[in-house]
Amino acid sequence: MSRAFRWLLHGLVVAFGIFAAGFAVEANAADDAVIAALQFSISKNIAHAREHLDAVDYKSLAQSAGNLQFLADLLRTKSEDTPWQEAIGNVIAAAKEVQSAAGTGDAAKCRAAIEALEKATALAASKKPSGNPQPLPRPAGSIRPVMLVMDAVRGDAKVALLAGEVQDAKKGAYVLSELGRVVSNSSGGNAKNRERWPELSGAFVEAALAAARSPAEDAATVRQLMRSVSQRCETCHETR
Ligand code: HEC
Repeated sequence: MSRAFRWLLHGLVVAFGIFAAGFAVEANAADDAVIAALQFSISKNIAHAREHLDAVDYKSLAQSAGNLQFLADLLRTKSEDTPWQEAIGNVIAAAKEVQSAAGTGDAAKCRAAIEALEKATALAASKKPSGNPQPLPRPAGSIRPVMLVMDAVRGDAKVALLAGEVQDAKKGAYVLSELGRVVSNSSGGNAKNRERWPELSGAFVEAALAAARSPAEDAATVRQLMRSVSQRCETCHETR
């Protein structure tokens, strides 16, 4: 091997190493943003649970607890390490308790269950994911539960924009991109547009990520980006 060639090879190996390291950092940074966004959405749903309880609306309380379980399930896949899995498993169990308490219509029971859920969530938030991610959940059968979560998260993002909370709206967009990946991962249930599913759900994820990663700090620009996310909801619904 000529000396020049060896140097070239060495250079390539080093360059690739730097490239790969850069790539890993970028992937981790993106994961951190998604994790923070999911945690934010989970705490938002706890706040909604409290509001619904105060309004004596047990049906909506049960729905918020259901949405929360879905989001926590997604968050749990971000790391396979045991402390993470256990802590988020406890959040999911506590959310189930809230759901069944809502079913009884017993306000004191609901309040106690929400408090336990808050404790479990605070404990889970103190954990750092240290393992490899797991595969995304693949919804069996109907995608209706994912749709209800998407609807709620989009609603939260809209309200955030009205209040000028641009960063909160972007977190919502991150969560929507994750939910879109779950939709894309599904077979499309009994949707008629099954053959167009990868294209339709892929375009949705792209639009959500564009909003989530936008450097814009002003509500008007982010509102425009959120509008194109909503257009992707409609495009898919029009063909259903
Ligand atoms: C890739 C296709 C696709 C995208 C993207 C999509 N949806 Fe849907 N959506 C569906 C299908 C299919 C159904 C019917 C599901 C069923 O009833 O089994 C549905 C149903 C719904 C429902 C009705 C649930 C019910 O009560 O029966 C709501 C609400 C909804 N979607 C909201 C949204 C929102 C909000 C977005 C965007 C943020 C969105 N969807 C994006 C395909 C999509």
